[in-house]
Amino acid sequence: MKVVHIVGARPNFMKVAPVLNALKVHRRVVQTLVHTGQHYDANMSDVFFQQLSIPAPDVNLDVGSGTHARQTADVMIRFEPVVLKAKPDIVLVYGDVNSTVAAALVCAKLGIRIGHVEAGLRSFDRTMPEEINRLITDQLADMLFTPSEDADLNLRNEGIAAEKVFLVGNVMIDSLVRLLPIAQRLNDNRRNHNRMPERYVLVTLHRPSNVDDSATLKGLLELLLEVNCDLSVVFPVHPRTRQRIAEFGFNADRLRLFDPLPYIEFLALQARSTMVITDSGGIQEETTYLGVPCLTVRDNTERPITVSKGTNVLVGRNPERLRTEICNVLAGKAKKGTVPPLWEGHAGERIANVLAGQL
Ligand code: UD1
Repeated sequence: MKVVHIVGARPNFMKVAPVLNALKVHRRVVQTLVHTGQHYDANMSDVFFQQLSIPAPDVNLDVGSGTHARQTADVMIRFEPVVLKAKPDIVLVYGDVNSTVAAALVCAKLGIRIGHVEAGLRSFDRTMPEEINRLITDQLADMLFTPSEDADLNLRNEGIAAEKVFLVGNVMIDSLVRLLPIAQRLNDNRRNHNRMPERYVLVTLHRPSNVDDSATLKGLLELLLEVNCDLSVVFPVHPRTRQRIAEFGFNADRLRLFDPLPYIEFLALQARSTMVITDSGGIQEETTYLGVPCLTVRDNTERPITVSKGTNVLVGRNPERLRTEICNVLAGKAKKGTVPPLWEGHAGERIANVLAGQL
């Protein structure tokens, strides 16, 4: 059985690692890894391959940055000859980034089977580029691997046949479970060397809706500067956000701004933080697993289980509401959560078993 995995952006890497690993034990499976090059900075890509022990990609499409149309089109044009040559039995696509939908479109037109890992998530907000990517990818996929029951329900409501859907759990948590002990050792060393404050707020912001509009970004940064007077704000900054801060001429030097961090270093920071403020998808899931309070600066989430079961609170994009929720956490009134079923480190193996059984 020939399997092609295609990944491109940072959040894909922690999802592909467990599936690659789990398929290794199936002797008859030959795996090819394609990197689209959507993310290309060493600290957005290479370091994740190293830390997650992902083999070097067999092919790199080197598409780089661009408008949505250009980036998606470039992946399609460059992936088509690769997949024609590889003649795989199935192509596995991950998450909801532009590389995901582009690869799915190519395969659908060539009649090549598609497996979508992390299928069925919906924010019901079509202004998010990721929502368009999710809707299209799921319509085209032949096998849909879902992280939670809400995803199965969404797919059922969209008329997707139940026999194509496999509830396997959360692959992102597989990577977390594997590397958390190393992250915790890093925390112990840091504590010994006294390099990090005892209590801090960990922040990530990169959604266009938060960082591309100068008034919204200004409001958020001002609130963070205010919080920083009482509690250190640690903020690894995505390249897009870094560019916007510079373009709009904001001064956020009093915050602890870092370049994007490697996986293990970021996991270590999350595990020990007083709270996380984010607009990321995956971090909502990771904080739920870790039991760390998470305030999500978005009006909606495609991961509602992190709110209904986990530690996530959707605060919207209003700095006042964010301030109230920060105060709640600091007053010891943070929401307590539980870990959703099948978020325990074995989702990759379940995907591998389904593939081995079906193909
Ligand atoms: C992409 C995903 C988003 C995911 C995020 C994680 C889509 C539509 N969006 O958004 O779902 O949460 O990745 O990071 O696929 N850049 C660099 N170096 C890089 C990569 C990007 O400097 O290695 C800069 C470029 O200026 C680029 C901008 O970041 O234009 C945005 O990159 P892009 O891949 O288009 O989208 P992300 O915002 O990273």
